[in-house]
This record gives sequence, structure tokens and C-alpha cells, in this order.
Amino acid sequence: MWYEGQQHQWDEQPDKKTQKFFEENENIVPDFTSVDDPSVLAESKDDENWVIDNTQLPWIKVGIDVPWEDIYEEANHLLYTSCYTMHRPNSSGWMSLCVHGMSTVHTNVPEDYGLEDQAEYDLSDWTDIAKFTPKTKQWLMDEVRYSPFSRVRFMAVLPGGWLAQHRDRDKTIGVGATNVAINNPDGCKLVMGGWGTLPYTPGSMFKLNTGYEHAVWNRSKEPRIHMILDGDQSPYFKQKVNEGYAQMLGA
Ligand SMILES: [Fe+2]
Repeated sequence: MWYEGQQHQWDEQPDKKTQKFFEENENIVPDFTSVDDPSVLAESKDDENWVIDNTQLPWIKVGIDVPWEDIYEEANHLLYTSCYTMHRPNSSGWMSLCVHGMSTVHTNVPEDYGLEDQAEYDLSDWTDIAKFTPKTKQWLMDEVRYSPFSRVRFMAVLPGGWLAQHRDRDKTIGVGATNVAINNPDGCKLVMGGWGTLPYTPGSMFKLNTGYEHAVWNRSKEPRIHMILDGDQSPYFKQKVNEGYAQMLGA
């Protein structure tokens, strides 16, 4: 069984602080023009990195097609056959598996394993699990086209699972990781402090500004599976980010 060997309790509630974070933030309607000025877009059109490096938006939608049903089939089968590893403390039922990276189970940053940052580039490749995810691998190579990929992970939050609010960076300038919804069951939300709930649907892709506090709580009866993509974004990918940004600001 896919939950075998880990301590997650189905009826567990997040800590009080995380529950309060959800109450205060999950229904906020975001106003993107409150932090970014649409008129700056015209000046920045020649620099493909400008938006990614300078925006203070909480997220940017990326218009890349995701064959989420095929990817879900591969990712969910591996979850049900106990191939994922526990991801991080201060969470419950949060599990991960690398299809590209230093290894299948090296789901965190190199520092967490006593390694230099550069190790992620020097040691990363398609992992042994990628043999079992051919459609996912093909999509990554054909449509996402990072050059190179570093860490590419499935991220599962089990029913009733949660991760407490946290920031992954000190600054709120620029967007970081790419987060892709492979499924997104009703009742599972990723919430950002001051900004509300990410408008995820299955197959939607977002750049996240993880300098803002964020938390996840799966109040559904099925596992939620997303992917996080890390590596060097290609000009094609950056163009897709910039197009999504312009749409969000109505420019
Ligand atoms: Fe995070």
C-alpha cells in the first residue's frame, strides 16, 4: 500500500498556526497591480530575464500544455507501489520522488546532504525511476525543454496531509520554482500569505514566488500530485513565462 511505513494519520489536523494561516488567507482575492506596474512591461520586452528576476507577483501562469492524465498514471502508480520518500519535517503526508536529480531519493537541496550547491549540476541525470515514467520524461524533453534540468520531482500530499507555512527564500523579488498540477483534487489548496489560493486545475503550470509564506493542506480524500521543476530555463520557457505575465497584468 502506498501509505505503508510512514506515520501519516488520516484524521490529523495541521498545527494551529497553519490552520489560522489558511483561515486568514485562503479566500483573499489578489490584486496583481498592487505590486507590479504594467507600464514597465514595454520597457522590459528586450530582456527575457526581466520578469523572472524582478516581478513581485506571487505567481505567474505558464502556458505550456501538460498531458496530465498520462503523467498522473505514471506518478500515481509509483505512489501506490511505495516508491516515494518522505520529504521534509514540519509536514504530514508530504512525499517526493525525483525523475531527474542526484538520485531518486535526493529530493532536497544539496546542502541537506552535506554537498556543495554545484553537486546538483555535476551529479544530476535521469534517475533509475525515469525508466518507469517514459511519458513524463518525453514531455519534459519535448515541451518544458530546460537545459539542463537539475531536480525534477513528483510531490505528493496524501489525503489529510499538509505542509506548514514557510518561505523558501528571504526576498519577494523574482519568481523561483516551477510547480505543475498533475491533479488537484477539490479541497486541496496551496495558499499564499496576503495573496489567496493558487488557481490550480489539473495540468496547470505556475512559477511561484516562494519568498511569500505559503502552505498546503489536502482536505480531500485522494492524494494530490504536483511536479516541481528545477534547472536552467530555456529561452522558449522564459518566453512562455513572459507571455503569462503580460496576460495576468492585462498588458
Ligand atoms: Fe515551499
